Amino acid sequence: MVMIKLRSRQNFYYEVFPLREKEMKDLLKIARKNWKKAVLGLKTSDYFKDFIINEKVRGRLAEFMEKELKITKGSRVLDVGAGTGPLTIALARKFKTSSTDANLLSLKFVKYRAEQEKVKVDLYKTDTLDGGLPFKEQSFDAIVMNGVLEWVAMGLQKEKVKEVQMKTLKEMFRVLKKNGTFILAIENRFAFDWFRGKTSHMPIKFIDLMPRKLADIVCRIKTGKDFRTYIYSKFGYKKMLEDANFKEIEFYEAFPTYQKPQWIRKTRNLFANSYIVVGKKL
Ligand SMILES: C[S@@+](CC[C@H](N)C(=O)[O-])C[C@H]1O[C@@H](n2cnc3c(N)ncnc32)[C@H](O)[C@@H]1O
Repeated sequence: MVMIKLRSRQNFYYEVFPLREKEMKDLLKIARKNWKKAVLGLKTSDYFKDFIINEKVRGRLAEFMEKELKITKGSRVLDVGAGTGPLTIALARKFKTSSTDANLLSLKFVKYRAEQEKVKVDLYKTDTLDGGLPFKEQSFDAIVMNGVLEWVAMGLQKEKVKEVQMKTLKEMFRVLKKNGTFILAIENRFAFDWFRGKTSHMPIKFIDLMPRKLADIVCRIKTGKDFRTYIYSKFGYKKMLEDANFKEIEFYEAFPTYQKPQWIRKTRNLFANSYIVVGKKL
């Protein structure tokens, strides 16, 4: 049986788009017996069903970690912000995997999924923003944040977004072993896609390209809230990882997006949709 270790009682529901809390609870009732049937029965797009189910594509990062980054089978890996778990499960098939999430309901889904897939994984309900991760220094050989850094400031209204993100990166550095690898999968602020009107986290055209103050004003007009899902340029990520003490920083492009990558390759492209940023703790 897969257990969820409660390391935070803070009740904050990070919405797993497009599942609101009530829909997630309904999903869990079916997922308890059959996680895939529960997803296939959702009244949502095929894209989103595939987004949850497709472990081959959504878990491609696990294969990349083994083949390109030479992370050996059985290494201790931490997946921060597991969501509905396609990557967690792919990682757990190769590595000794622990996963965290601030959302207890989505962790329950991952628990059922892991049990039915007969995969072993340690799950932790955490809140990285409240006193850090519940792990000792130097606990993991590799740490993955796949589509999470941009969300970490969402639940907090007063703290500055970049400060929360930097605090998170420093916490990753702390729990990573010496010679360990940090892997950040995230969108590029200056992706060509945003110039032609596609959107990343907020469905507001050009919002990522705007100066932050203007983005705040536009976001407040459209949603009633500040803009808090900051993403950065290639130079921005390099500087942030350096400030968190990571070394040997390398950039890979995940095409067409890191969420459903067809391929992942080393890149110098300043306008890629997404990057896999890799840093070492030396
Ligand atoms: C867009 S989802 C990505 C999920 C998963 N990594 C994937 O690629 O499918 C973002 C996840 O990060 C989680 N999250 C956001 N802030 C967090 C925090 N401070 N600590 C732990 N998890 C967090 C959310 O609950 C959500 O499940």
